[in-house]
Amino acid sequence: MSLTNKKSRIVIIGAGAVGSTTAYTLLLRERMDELVLIDANQEKAIGDALDMSHGLPFLGQSKVWAGTYEDCKGADIIIITAGAAQRDGESRIDLLKRNVAIFESITTEVLKYNTDGILLIASNPVDVMSYFTWKKSGWPTNRIIGSGTLLDSARFRYLIGEKLNIDSRSVHAHIIGEHGDSELPIWSLANVAGSGLSLSDEDKEEIFSNTKNAAYQIIKAKGATFYAIALALDRICTAILHNEASVLNVSTLLQDYHGVSDVFLGVPCIVDRDGIREVLTLEINDEEKGLLEQSAAKLKDIIGTVSM
Ligand code: LAC
Repeated sequence: MSLTNKKSRIVIIGAGAVGSTTAYTLLLRERMDELVLIDANQEKAIGDALDMSHGLPFLGQSKVWAGTYEDCKGADIIIITAGAAQRDGESRIDLLKRNVAIFESITTEVLKYNTDGILLIASNPVDVMSYFTWKKSGWPTNRIIGSGTLLDSARFRYLIGEKLNIDSRSVHAHIIGEHGDSELPIWSLANVAGSGLSLSDEDKEEIFSNTKNAAYQIIKAKGATFYAIALALDRICTAILHNEASVLNVSTLLQDYHGVSDVFLGVPCIVDRDGIREVLTLEINDEEKGLLEQSAAKLKDIIGTVSM
């Protein structure tokens, strides 16, 4: 909640499963003073806003409403979750063409009313959509953040914690690269309290496979993922609104990151009030560098197919 006179405001564009769950998560945790929901289906946004508003007597002073792009004016964070969602068996990249068209109009509208907020992109393929938004907006890269591999890293830490029977919050391990099929595990730096992990190669293979394929598994089971990504987006918003300077694996434009440039990928970044303050270069081994280059090359090929 804001301690200054200015009321903190988050706008969520897209009131689908991810957008509405993120809205509810932010509200439950009382992250901001004002929460605005925007959706092409305005009835849905109105219904969600009403439903959440009726819970406010159990919560705090936040206000939530279904708004228009004009409500982006003065917003601290604009979260974009709009776009086609992955269907069973579909890769995130398959969504590209549909979502670029949607982002074209969204970015144009946002820019009419907001020039100094932070754009937080969650729509897939998130690294490409973040790159597109950066190109289209012309905003500095610190204010264009993709959810990146923050969720993947959380899944990775959870699965390692389960295997070792250790609280996942005490497991430090990174997934970097594409939020998608070419993401890579940084086993060389994974640790618990600074000590290496006693995991067999089979354990590692199982853990990484389950991490990378988690979304496919969940989508097959229930049609979509939305709880953990909502918590990941809440985590990023908290780091921004509380000026935390926390290290989060978000998607950002890399420049000479172990030789990788001109592509958005998930890597550890320091996130504070101004967005991404600094990109942290992990000391990864040659095998991991090779995998990162492959991930970058895949996304650069895809970016090349989209007229930016
Ligand atoms: C997932 C979606 C957010 O990985 O891409 O669950």
